[in-house]
Amino acid sequence: MIHTDITECIGNTPVVSLNDELVPLGKKLYLKLDYFNPNFSIKDRTALGLVKAAMAEGKIRPGSILIESTSGNLGKSLAMLGAVYGFKVIIVVDPKVSASLLKWYQAYGAEVDMVTTPAPEGGFQRARLNRVRQLLDKYPGAFWSNQYDNPSNPAYHAETTAREIADLPVDSIVGAVSTGGHLCGIGKYVKKHKPHLHVVACDVAGSAVFGQPFAPYLINGVGLSWRSANTDTSVLDAVSISSDQEAISVCRLLARDHGILMGGSGGLTVFTALAWLQHSDASSALAIIPDAGTNYLDQIYDDEWLTAKEIKLLGRGELEERLEHKAFTNLLKQETLT
Ligand SMILES: Cc1ncc(COP(=O)(O)O)c(C=O)c1O
Repeated sequence: MIHTDITECIGNTPVVSLNDELVPLGKKLYLKLDYFNPNFSIKDRTALGLVKAAMAEGKIRPGSILIESTSGNLGKSLAMLGAVYGFKVIIVVDPKVSASLLKWYQAYGAEVDMVTTPAPEGGFQRARLNRVRQLLDKYPGAFWSNQYDNPSNPAYHAETTAREIADLPVDSIVGAVSTGGHLCGIGKYVKKHKPHLHVVACDVAGSAVFGQPFAPYLINGVGLSWRSANTDTSVLDAVSISSDQEAISVCRLLARDHGILMGGSGGLTVFTALAWLQHSDASSALAIIPDAGTNYLDQIYDDEWLTAKEIKLLGRGELEERLEHKAFTNLLKQETLT
């Protein structure tokens, strides 16, 4: 099949079965590898949804300016779309961004704007948003895609990502939350069309999305120092919080034993899905893997970096023990499930 342009290569990502002894006997865990998108992350979908809606509403056109705050992946995707559709993209980043990501944005012709000091409340994420507001004052008419609160984000996932998933032979969907866009978009669709499917969220310890106090954490992409409007908990059945150590250990295990190279939020999602299969009636789960480990070769896949960050990788036995003690919270009733 010959595509008209690169945007047509977004979505329709593969699903792979995880055949590992950590998957409870008789149960199935499938991984939807969203790192098979053009920029190796699920954010290609989110960016396309935000940009298509803005173009349809006349908010951006060739020559416009689009501004967004991102810790990494969304910026690559928006920068690519700016190159395709002919609008200028300004990406507001913080020092957690890797040098190679900056080159990625610039390769597509985007401008990079770096904040250097975390906001007293809300850290770098809040500081980036403050900077976006300054830039909007500086460039009247510029469009802020606002992945956090723009309903086009979950709406696009409800219309597209969810339809790729809803007919798979699974009874649970597990995903990581930051803006909430992809998981809550999927949740919205399945609660309406496939209500028997459980939607399970995962977050990283330190994130404040599900009401914990904010504290810095290591893995990228997942979590937030507040809860965004796009996190609609009414379409989520349960949530579980896991640590950087657990997420990174699963990433390293899947790379070494299965040749699957995921980012840290993918490790978090797989860890949560394994625990969900162990502690619930679910017989099968689909874990959505947001991005590729290639983004983090000099971080979570680098032993020296891990030592510097005081992360000790957990072996299989230790992971089994952690999985056994994992707890889930029912979001509707606010009670612990296991
Ligand atoms: C690597 C990674 N994981 C998870 C997420 C969370 O996705 P969402 O913002 O749709 O909740 C993101 C989004 O930035 C991401 O880049």
